[in-house]
Amino acid sequence: MRKYRLVERISAEKLNDCLDALAARINRDYEGQSVILIGVLKGAFIFMADLARRLTMPVKMDFVRLASYGDGDKSCGSVRITKDVELPLCGSHVIVVEDIVDTGITLKWFLDHLKSHCPESVRICALIDKKERRQVELPIDYVGMTVDAGFIVGYGLDFSENHRHLPMICEVVFEEDGFTD
Ligand code: PRP
Repeated sequence: MRKYRLVERISAEKLNDCLDALAARINRDYEGQSVILIGVLKGAFIFMADLARRLTMPVKMDFVRLASYGDGDKSCGSVRITKDVELPLCGSHVIVVEDIVDTGITLKWFLDHLKSHCPESVRICALIDKKERRQVELPIDYVGMTVDAGFIVGYGLDFSENHRHLPMICEVVFEEDGFTD
């Protein structure tokens, strides 16, 4: 196991403010309508829980689990669904909730998949947009923050399934990249 330490990059307070701003926009845009939030597991579960509790319109929630094939931390374009949507989406306004959009490959695939569920509309809400790594064009309607580089964990994001529970977002700094005991 490579040695690493965590360096705080986005505080819990900043996340709180970011969620307030995102929810305010969504509440404004969907006033008088109802929405179905679809969270992409596992990473989105904390973000979606905090976002949903700030929404003022009628809300239903569902989750999907997607697996992308690739080596290490890279998606390679091949995605499969291991848990599909369970709610009927036909005629509904859907917001797909992601913790992070990186290459965009996972979400692009899922948006195509969603078409078969014939929703009335689909928008994307992502807490973190890692724009500089984007490989496919993707319209993200609601972006919490743009992050340029670094391997980040916390607030749902993991490193080998660790650190999802952290209330803030941290960067993983490896020993060989400058960290020593
Ligand atoms: C992350 C994230 C997105 C996807 C984004 O999930 O939650 O679903 O990667 O990557 P992309 O834009 O390059 O396709 P991950 O596969 O790490 O699973 P997890 O949410 O269970 O941690």
